[in-house]
This record gives sequence, structure tokens and C-alpha cells, in this order.
Amino acid sequence: GRLVVLVSGSGTNLQALLDASADPAYGARVVAVGADRDGIEGLARASRADVPTFVEKLGDYEQRTEWDVAIADRIASYEPDLVVSAGFMKILGAPTLDAFPLLNTHPALLPAFPGAHGVRDALAYGVKVTGCTVMLADSGVDSGPIVAQEAVAVLPGDDEAVLHERIKTVERRLLVEIVGRMVREGWTVSGRTVRIGNQPE
Ligand code: GRF
Repeated sequence: GRLVVLVSGSGTNLQALLDASADPAYGARVVAVGADRDGIEGLARASRADVPTFVEKLGDYEQRTEWDVAIADRIASYEPDLVVSAGFMKILGAPTLDAFPLLNTHPALLPAFPGAHGVRDALAYGVKVTGCTVMLADSGVDSGPIVAQEAVAVLPGDDEAVLHERIKTVERRLLVEIVGRMVREGWTVSGRTVRIGNQPE
């Protein structure tokens, strides 16, 4: 399976996918990494792994629809079987969503705390359990069908950074597991139900 991974930041989820793909048995390999900004660690991680990169900045286009087409074209040139948004902080438009399955990861238990500040919002609300969600992306903000979730405890004294790190440790493992299973076993979507493989439940 060919993966294009999209990043906007440190790229530790990307690194987990790069590490997993070192084993051919994993069944998926990162063929390109795309970003919406320069100079981020995620791009450096790709370069160190000899994976090609591309950058499409929204600010370089007059219309968002032009950026939507440009990034979809860049992704398409790598012929991915699956696109993974791993800390990519932009909503992708129809040109990408209509052309490729897009998997996303979020550091909260959706539908609670969607958006760019899922960890901060969960902490501010005072929940005692939060977690991470791997879902298919649709045109909304963190609103696509859920593929997998895992809970993470909020501990006394947590701040946003500490809690986010605890979540990301789980998030990286879950993302690697789900991506691997999807590419090896295939998946079907029926309404909001995503089933990996074709084994009866
Ligand atoms: C992850 O927690 C992702 O869900 C969130 O931002 C973080 C990205 O981390 N939206 P990294 O860039 O993979 O280290």
C-alpha cells in the first residue's frame, strides 16, 4: 500500500509510520510527505528517511479552491492507496476527498472536543478520561466515520503539553496499527460504520 502522509508540525505520527514501514510485512510504505508550511520537523523527518516532500501553502493562492486543486494534484502524482492526515491542520477540499480515502487522527474522543484544540478543550472541560480517535475525513471538522478510539486518563496536575504527550504515545501506536490493517486487509464503509477486512464480527 502506498501512503501519502500530510503534516503541519513535529511529525511524530509520521515518524511512527516511517518506522513501521521499514518492515516489508507492514504492507504499507510512505511514498511522499506533504505539508502546508515550510520548515517543520515533519518535513525534516521525511527527508532523513529519503521520502520525497511537497509543500502547498494556502497563502500562495488567491482562492482556497485553487489550493484544494493544487494539493490534490500533488497527492495524485504519488498514486496513493491511502492518504493519512497526521497532524495536518487544514481541512481538505473535494478534489482530495473525492479522489482518495483520507484517514485522520485526533487527540480526543470524538464527538467530544473536535477542532484544533482538542486537548486544551478536554482539559478545560474537566473530563477525567479523554483519548484519541482515528477516523475517515469528510468535509467537516473531525466529523467523519470513526475507525478506532482509545481512552487515555487525565491525571491531576496535567497541563496541555503533558496530557497531549500521553495521548500521542497511544495515538501513534493506534494509527500505525489501523493504517497497517487497512492496507493489508482492506476496508468498507457503510454509513458511519467502518469495517476493516471482511471477517464477520
Ligand atoms: C497529534 O496529536 C494530532 O492528532 C494533532 O496534532 C498532533 C500531531 O503530532 N492534531 P505530530 O506532528 O504527529 O507529532
